[in-house]
Amino acid sequence: MWLYVLLLCCFLWVAVWYFRDQQMLRSFKDKYVFITGCDTGFGNLLAKRLDKKGFRVLAGCLTLKGADSLQRAASPNLRTTLMDVTDSESICKAVEWVRTEVGEKGLFGLVNNAGVANPIGPTEWMHIEDYRQVMAVNTFGVIEVSLAFLPLLKQARGRVVNISSVLGRLSANGGGYCISKYTIEAFSDSLRRDVHHFGVKVSIVEPGFFKTAVTNLESLEASLRQLWDRLSPETRQSYGEDFFRNYVKVQNFIMNLVCDPDLSKVTNCMEHALQAKHPRTRYSAGWDAKLLWLPASYLPAFIVDVVLAAILPKPAHCVR
Ligand SMILES: NC(=O)c1ccc[n+]([C@@H]2O[C@H](COP(=O)([O-])OP(=O)(O)OC[C@H]3O[C@@H](n4cnc5c(N)ncnc54)[C@H](OP(=O)(O)O)[C@@H]3O)[C@@H](O)[C@H]2O)c1
Repeated sequence: MWLYVLLLCCFLWVAVWYFRDQQMLRSFKDKYVFITGCDTGFGNLLAKRLDKKGFRVLAGCLTLKGADSLQRAASPNLRTTLMDVTDSESICKAVEWVRTEVGEKGLFGLVNNAGVANPIGPTEWMHIEDYRQVMAVNTFGVIEVSLAFLPLLKQARGRVVNISSVLGRLSANGGGYCISKYTIEAFSDSLRRDVHHFGVKVSIVEPGFFKTAVTNLESLEASLRQLWDRLSPETRQSYGEDFFRNYVKVQNFIMNLVCDPDLSKVTNCMEHALQAKHPRTRYSAGWDAKLLWLPASYLPAFIVDVVLAAILPKPAHCVR
C-alpha cells in the first residue's frame, strides 16, 4: 500500500515538474539578451538562433572579424559590440552601449558564455600565471560582467545564464579550467539566492564535451607542448619522454570518443533558460554529461581516482 502511495507521489511530482518545465513565455519581441563570446562556438550559434526566434540579440564579440561575420549571418535586429571580459573599461563601455539599446525595457537576459580552456595538463607543469590567465576570463570575467549588468537585469526582472561545464562538477585534469568552472558553480548558486528577491533568475548550463575551438585537438596539443618544453630538465626526466606522447594519445582518444559535433544540444538548454516561464537551476547538455561525468561526480573520490589513474599515463619515476 505504502509503495503505491510512494509511486503515486513520484508520478505526480514528475508530472508537475514536466508541466512547469514546458510552459514558455509568449513573445520575445521586446526581450533584449546580451551574450558574451559570440565570435565562435555556442555563443555564435545561440546569437543566430535567438535572432531567428525574434529576441533582440546584443552580441559581445572579442574580435572585429567575429563581430562582422556574425552581423552578416544575422538579421539587422541583431547588434554586435566588441567586448573583452577581462578588461573593466571594455565591460563599462558595453554596459553603456546596452543601456542605450534597451532604453526603459532593461536587459531580459545575460548569457555569460565567453571562455578559454588552455593550458590543460598535469598540475606540476603549470605556472601561477597559467591559472590567472584562465580565471581572468572564466571566473573574474563572469563575475565582473554579471555585477555590471545587474541593475539592467533587475529593471527587466531578467535572467542570467552562466555556462559552466561538467568539469565544474568533476575535476578531471590540471590547469585553471576545472577550477574556473567550479567557481562559476559557486558564484551562480550565491547569485541565484541573492537576486531572486528582485525577480532575477539564474541558471547554470553544464555541457559535456563538444567540438568547438575549446576542444580543438591541435591547440590542446600545442599548448601541452609549450608546457612540456619549458619544464626544467629534472622535472621532464621524472616524467620521461614517453609521458608526453602517451598523454597526448589518451587526450586525443578521449576527445574523439566523447566530443559531440551537435552544438544545438547546448544552445537548446540556453534557449530554454531564456524562454521558459520557470527556467531550471541546472541544465546538463550531452550524453556524456548525463551518463558519464555527472553520475561520476557523485561517486566516492577514490573510485574516480582509481579510474583516472588507470586511464592516464604514469610518469617514469612513478613510486606507486
Ligand atoms: N566545447 C566544450 O566542450 C565545452 C564544454 C563545456 C563548457 N564549455 C564552455 O562553453 C563556453 C563557450 O565555449 P565554446 O566551446 O563555444 O568555445 P569557443 O568557440 O572558443 O567560444 C568561446 C568564445 O569566447 C571568446 N572569448 C575568449 N576570451 C574572451 C575574452 N577575454 N572576452 C570575450 N570573449 C572571449 C572566444 O573568442 P575568440 O574565438 O575570438 O577567441 C570565443 O568566441 C565556454 O565558457 C566554455 O568553457 C565548452
